[in-house]
Amino acid sequence: MDKEKKILYSGMQATNTLTLGNYLGALKNWVSMHEEYECFYGVMDLHSLTVRQEPAEFRKNARSLYALYVAAGLDPEKNCVYYQSHVPAHTQLAWILNCFTYMGELSRMTQYKDKAAKHADNVNAGLFTYPVLMASDILLYQADVVPVGVDQKQHLEITRDIAERFNSIYGDVFTVPEAYIGKAGAKVMSLQDPTKKMSKSDENPNATVFLLDDKDTIIRKFKRAVTDSDAEIRYDAENKPGVSNLMSIYSAVSKKSYEEIEKEFAGSGYGDFKIAVGERVAEELLPIQNKYQELMKEKSFIESCMKNNAEKAFYVSNKTLRKVYKKVGLTELPRS
Ligand code: TYM
Repeated sequence: MDKEKKILYSGMQATNTLTLGNYLGALKNWVSMHEEYECFYGVMDLHSLTVRQEPAEFRKNARSLYALYVAAGLDPEKNCVYYQSHVPAHTQLAWILNCFTYMGELSRMTQYKDKAAKHADNVNAGLFTYPVLMASDILLYQADVVPVGVDQKQHLEITRDIAERFNSIYGDVFTVPEAYIGKAGAKVMSLQDPTKKMSKSDENPNATVFLLDDKDTIIRKFKRAVTDSDAEIRYDAENKPGVSNLMSIYSAVSKKSYEEIEKEFAGSGYGDFKIAVGERVAEELLPIQNKYQELMKEKSFIESCMKNNAEKAFYVSNKTLRKVYKKVGLTELPRS
């Protein structure tokens, strides 16, 4: 490992295809991070099992997520991109950290409460301890920073609490990580209800833009986006959440500030603005979609990257795991 650089860790669940929210809130910010950080990115397939998965479809989604990471610009030769389930240390550390995490703090997690309400027929223990596996992912690599969208802030806070608790008993075992939240796009809202975050599992098909949607679909979804009755393109998240959401999406893809956008569209109606946002988003996604199609055909490249990077992740994570085992007093297996 390059000791000069700070360490960065992040990942996404391997369910369905990614949304514009996943892309703008996380993936888009990841692609150039390797210049400054030693980067690790997981395909979080174990986390996905907290919701029932159809096996063949799940396997395809995991591969598709890996290919989308690479297509969006994450170079697997410069970043350690691997599957979480290929590195057993994640679940091994999770067990130990489960024993250092309280039921009370887990039951306060908003994502747990939301998911438990949504999947009332399957409120499993994995859903409850999801943040502990996430803490293990991060702490195993001694990550300094974790780039995520706003919705993951609470999970980062519990990760820090667990790390500090463990360190206060056993000395400096874990680096206490910081969340890194991008400015524009950190919370992309639903196009149909701008008070709710854009989500993979929204029942309304017009609420979510997927990374693999074609241009017409993208523009159609933006045209139907819910706005307000006033016709002014002005950023005001509280009183004009729909337009403000569109502005934050436009800002993330065009790198323009809200003032610049207000000027650009002064005097235009919502209709024109929505089409402009749709077109700009489609333009941003097209090269990613083309690269994705190529990668999905060319199996051997992804497979060799997946393998090499899993070996690296295995090595790095096991160093931390061995230290933890020793600190808590587990007995090492005699060598001969
Ligand atoms: P997941 O798959 O739910 O989300 C992946 C990333 O996308 C961001 N995101 C959004 N950002 C902006 N607007 C949205 N509407 C939106 N929807 C999702 C999320 O904030 C996240 O950054 N628990 C993690 C996966 C994980 C992980 C980790 C992340 C497992 N272990 C370790 C970092 C470090 C998650 O929610 O993924």
